[in-house]
Amino acid sequence: MKKLKTAVLISGSGTNLQALLDACRRPGFPAEITLVISNRADAYGLTRAANAGVATQLISHKDYPDRETFDSALYDALVASGVEIVCLAGFMRLLTAGFVAKWQGRMINIHPSLLPAYKGLNTHRRVLEAGEKETGCTVHFVTAEMDDGEVILQAHVPILPDDSEQTLAARVLEQEHKIYPQALKIVAERLNSAN
Ligand code: GRF
Repeated sequence: MKKLKTAVLISGSGTNLQALLDACRRPGFPAEITLVISNRADAYGLTRAANAGVATQLISHKDYPDRETFDSALYDALVASGVEIVCLAGFMRLLTAGFVAKWQGRMINIHPSLLPAYKGLNTHRRVLEAGEKETGCTVHFVTAEMDDGEVILQAHVPILPDDSEQTLAARVLEQEHKIYPQALKIVAERLNSAN
C-alpha cells in the first residue's frame, strides 16, 4: 500500500504530532509525515519534527496582511511538497472556506470534546462547569465551519468527581494520542483504495 504524504499543522507543544510521527514509523502504516508547518516560531512541535528528521516550515500569520494571503502561503507550501493529507494538530488559526474546500476529504482535525458538543476553546473548563459525567475527543474532517464536519473517530472519557481542568485534559489527551493515528490510518486507507 502506498504511504500518503501527510503534513501536520501545529501551533504549540505537538504531543498529537508526536503520536502521529510514532504511528507513521510502524511498518505498513499507510501514511508518512513529510512536512510540519507551524505558524509560531516557539512551537515545541517544530523540535519534535526536527528530531524525527521531518522537514519543517514556519509560516507566521503575522507576516501576512489577512487570512487569504496566509492561507495561500500555506497552500503553496503544501502543494510544493506534494502533500496528500493535512492533519491539524493544535493549529490555532481559523482557515478560510476557499482553503478548506481545496482539501475537502483530505484534511482532518482533533478536538478535545465529544463533537458536536463543546465546539471552540476551553472545552474542559466548560464540561466541568456544566457538571457533565463524561467527555472525550473527536477526529473529524475539516469543513468551513469550525469544529464541524464528518466524525471519523471518537473516544469517551469519564469525568471523575475530583477532576480539575488539568487532570481531565491529561486524561483526554491520552485518548487523543490513540485515536488520531487510528483516524489518519482510516483516511489514508480510504484514499488509497479510492485511487
Ligand atoms: C489538543 O488538545 C487538541 O485536541 C487541540 O489542541 C491540543 C493540541 O495539543 N486541538 P498538542 O499540541 O497536540 O499537544
